[in-house]
Amino acid sequence: MASSAACSKAFNNALFSALFATCLAAVLVSGFQFEVGEKTGWTKPTGKEPETYNQWAAKNRFHIGDTLNFKYQNDSVLVVSSADYLNCNTSNPISKFEDGNTVFEFDRSGFFYFISGQPGNCKSGQKLIVRVMHPSEVEAPELAPSPSAAGGGDSGRDWVSPSANSTTKIFFVSYLVTALAGLFVFLYVFM
Ligand SMILES: *[C@@H]1O[C@H](CO)[C@@H](O)[C@H](O)[C@H]1NC(C)=O
Ligand SMILES: *[C@@H]1O[C@H](CO)[C@@H](O)[C@H](O)[C@H]1NC(C)=O
Repeated sequence: MASSAACSKAFNNALFSALFATCLAAVLVSGFQFEVGEKTGWTKPTGKEPETYNQWAAKNRFHIGDTLNFKYQNDSVLVVSSADYLNCNTSNPISKFEDGNTVFEFDRSGFFYFISGQPGNCKSGQKLIVRVMHPSEVEAPELAPSPSAAGGGDSGRDWVSPSANSTTKIFFVSYLVTALAGLFVFLYVFM
């Protein structure tokens, strides 16, 4: 993808780290695309597949904004109600796609039911249920550790204070030594 190439180029240059952050945010906001049936695509199962469409769906987590890519020939994708899904009823779909390469985006959470529009294919297992997670189920990104956790609270402060004091003392002593040395140089030169 052109956008991810631009992102990795930006990542190589520290000056563009802000741009990289913007790219990362864009990638996180835009959804993930799932390939339905992977190499085989959207087709009537032969029975030799390693898993059914629904076994595949059960392994994945779908979010609002994610997309399903259906690739097929001489077939169609129907979005149907749960009742029509159960009966493999193709007569009144909610949506119908027959372009051969359908990208379907989830615009809400909850269940989506897909079946083939070809007679008999749904009964042979060309059907798919996807549950899209509600935003409340999606874990919040982990927050950076808070300063108090990193510093260890009061014990951290106790350690910092004497260190700051001794640094001040060392600075004062070195200032005195420099002033005394300057005085000796002054006395040596002018006496
Ligand atoms: C699709 O239909 C055409 C014409 O009926 C046929 O030639 C072709 O082999 C079919 N493709 C598949 C994948 O079934
Ligand atoms: C399919 O749905 C239509 C409309 O709801 C209904 O009239 C028809 O009987 C259904 N067919 C089957 C096989 O369930």
